[in-house]
Amino acid sequence: MKHFRNLMTGIATTTLLATGVIAEDLTIVHGSVGRDQEVLRGQLDRFEAETGHTVTIVSMPESTTDQFGQYRLWLSAQSSDIDVYRLDVIWAPQLASHFVDLTPHVADIVDDFVPAAIESQTVDGKLVALPMFLGAPALYYRTDLLEKYDQEVPTTWQELTEAAQVVMDGERAEGNTDMWGFVFQGAAYEGLTCNAQEWINSSGGGRIVELDGSININNPKAAAAIDLAASWVGGIAPEGVLNYKEEDARGVFQSGNAVFMRNWNYAYALAAGEDSPVRDSFAVTTLPSGGEGMSSSATLGGWNLGVSRYSENQEAAIELARFLTNYENQKERAIVTSRPPTLNAVYEDAEVAEQQEFIPLWKPVVDNALPRPSAATLRKYNEVSAAFWTAVHNTMSGDGDAATNLSRLENELKRLRGPRW
Ligand code: GLC
Repeated sequence: MKHFRNLMTGIATTTLLATGVIAEDLTIVHGSVGRDQEVLRGQLDRFEAETGHTVTIVSMPESTTDQFGQYRLWLSAQSSDIDVYRLDVIWAPQLASHFVDLTPHVADIVDDFVPAAIESQTVDGKLVALPMFLGAPALYYRTDLLEKYDQEVPTTWQELTEAAQVVMDGERAEGNTDMWGFVFQGAAYEGLTCNAQEWINSSGGGRIVELDGSININNPKAAAAIDLAASWVGGIAPEGVLNYKEEDARGVFQSGNAVFMRNWNYAYALAAGEDSPVRDSFAVTTLPSGGEGMSSSATLGGWNLGVSRYSENQEAAIELARFLTNYENQKERAIVTSRPPTLNAVYEDAEVAEQQEFIPLWKPVVDNALPRPSAATLRKYNEVSAAFWTAVHNTMSGDGDAATNLSRLENELKRLRGPRW
């Protein structure tokens, strides 16, 4: 288990401070990309100084799918090693029973949060986790290259495909052989579910499983969207995109080797950072749509802090979740990591607007972001998503066309559902 360090032995240490406060040793587990962990550590240091508690970070691999697998093991073993889990927005229905209901512990602050963020973490009236930050992806593009080749900012996937090809061909002809047209998250994991849901939904192909639980994936619009995406692989996108997660895509774009990138908000602060080769030559816009009369879809992402029912330090753990989501810490996170906050007021903060203009700019996109079918499929979401990303990944790897693979997927989803989700 080389990814995990500092695992506790399960024996909680308790110290009584001179102030009369009991100091606990807490453990928080989370995955991180970009500067997430650095900012978290700084905030934990302040928490430690203010409260006398200590907090150890257990770092997880980048992939949310890998995290989910490990979290399920710890939780089903009722392990007390971890006090606070950073949970993906999609997991609340599946993991609800393992977490403390935060409702009574946040009654004084809950109205300050973006309502949809709280709703996404509420399962049968129980608040499973406190929203830490939200996510709604953008299309990142190279302003200098679009200008050089006289290309418009694309508003449809077809336009993106064409513009990417023109710029890539031009740059390669000039000797820039590392240049690619479009990078995104194409590995077989939850990130591909997010990307593919966007391609399909923005093409009028539905949302895999609709809010009422009906399966809606085997349709010609969905198939056309996936076939178009399959045509990118080895064309405007490298073959390797089939193994890309968030940081792989960012690496290519930020080093100057891609015209377009689909990525989450965190990539903005990094691509705009002092040491970024593209800092003065990129911009963001909403993701393209399937065509006229259709609108862009951005998958709702985000992370939330849940307090384990098996924690022996629940009171201090709740204090920690409240601390990490307070105004000051959300503001810092918004400015340094360009993560959309979960507190309404941070979007209105003048300093945030000045130092990280992406945040207020992106508020409408965050507000309209498209949730994945995790509420509709309840305990089966992970299996639904895995079946979906597998069908998409197979198609993009040349293993069957979209119509055939989506028709198989429909049958698989029906079997998974049984009489009800
Ligand atoms: C981001 C999103 C999360 C999503 C993941 C997929 O971390 O915030 O919701 O599941 O990307 O890779």
